Amino acid sequence: MLAYVSRYFNIIAPALRRAIRRRYGYELAAKAYNDARPIYRQMLADFPSIGADNPMADNAYEALVFFAMYRAADGGLTPDMLRAVVGDLFELPVVKGAVGLSVNLNRAADMRRMNESLRSHARWVDEHPDEAPYTWDFNFGDSRGDTRVCYHFTRCPLNDFCREQDLMDVLPVMCEIDHVTARLAHGRLTREHTLAQGGAVCDYLIEGDECAHGRETAMRKDSIRGAYKALGGSATVYDAMMTCGTPLGVAMSWAVWLIGPEENTAYLEAAMAGVPEGFSGSLLEVPVGTGVLTMPLYQTLPDARVTCLDYSSDMMTAAQTRAERDGLSNVRFVQGDVGALPFDDESFDIVMSLNGFHAFPDKEAAYKETFRVLKRGGTFCGCFYVRGEVALTDGWIRRFHEPRGFFTPPYETAASLEERLRGMYAQVHVETHKAMACFVCVK
Ligand SMILES: C[S@@+](CC[C@H](N)C(=O)[O-])C[C@H]1O[C@@H](n2cnc3c(N)ncnc32)[C@H](O)[C@@H]1O
Repeated sequence: MLAYVSRYFNIIAPALRRAIRRRYGYELAAKAYNDARPIYRQMLADFPSIGADNPMADNAYEALVFFAMYRAADGGLTPDMLRAVVGDLFELPVVKGAVGLSVNLNRAADMRRMNESLRSHARWVDEHPDEAPYTWDFNFGDSRGDTRVCYHFTRCPLNDFCREQDLMDVLPVMCEIDHVTARLAHGRLTREHTLAQGGAVCDYLIEGDECAHGRETAMRKDSIRGAYKALGGSATVYDAMMTCGTPLGVAMSWAVWLIGPEENTAYLEAAMAGVPEGFSGSLLEVPVGTGVLTMPLYQTLPDARVTCLDYSSDMMTAAQTRAERDGLSNVRFVQGDVGALPFDDESFDIVMSLNGFHAFPDKEAAYKETFRVLKRGGTFCGCFYVRGEVALTDGWIRRFHEPRGFFTPPYETAASLEERLRGMYAQVHVETHKAMACFVCVK
């Protein structure tokens, strides 16, 4: 059992009542609040004996207020409704400010303090053998004191309590608060398992959000590069060259573009830099071609709404097959002309064009149309060939690509491209990698 302490209920319950009232009305709020205090007392009495002076006891005292009000609502609150009001509570400026202003897990000193605090909680458990079998057991992993903390529990008294009290449906709402509090402290919690969801452990890897962001970026780039490398024997010559995905592809990329595998990666990353991680808006890619460059990117964006357009249905069939193979249900394909896009004005958050403008016959129409369908504040990004940077490449284009219709003059130079884009977009960044110009513009 845990001794009754009034302050947790007195602080949390009225705030929760207000949040329920705002979302679901007075009646449900009153019902959840009015009967909750005796239920809270009883829950404390039934709780595993973790010790009231346990530094982790706050977690139990607080969570039980939520459980008591959930139970008092007598079916009127579902776990999703509770999740929504808990979300509202953590949006309150007083809560956000209290955590966000005092702790920043990107700062080494704050992360060190968190590490030390958790280790002192663990020491408390070691020093209290009577309570140890009931409370959280800390098992530390690779916790680099200044940059991250990593640990797991195999035991959680809230999990034991909820199992006994038939509250397992609502326990995940409490587990999710760990993510929210990490976020408020400018951190990121990465977690694979929870006891609440039947895992053997609850694991915690907490890092500053800047560091976690950097790691995710690296992982995303790795997975895209991995997809290019995995082309192997199935690659067409074109795909292999575009991705430097096979020895022949590397040789051709070098022979035509003087671009090796590393610079190939660099220019593609620069061209796609306008698509942020976790992007969940609408994106138009034109032309998609065989999709070899972008389907791996879309695999990292399950919440985005992607439209891919190309003139050639042959090229697009290859892209479509790739998308189906990769299970990309958020990507649709439209056959059409970039010079007359079948979309409303300002209908996309991002328009991306890789290796298209050197091929498009009517470039003026293409510039106009890609601009028209992009929302104000949206991003136009991509890459294509510019003349005057690499004489060898200019020669190949003139003698080989143009006669076969792969490329269509006139071509921009890096300077003319930048000038044109500056005349259209509010922000413009252009960089060249050999004869490839990469751009990210904001409308
Ligand atoms: C060099 S590929 C680039 C494909 C892909 N973005 C890539 O980087 O692999 C050029 C593509 O532009 C397409 N294309 C040419 N003219 C077009 C137009 N007017 N409208 C739409 N797509 C066009 C071609 O069908 C071809 O698939």
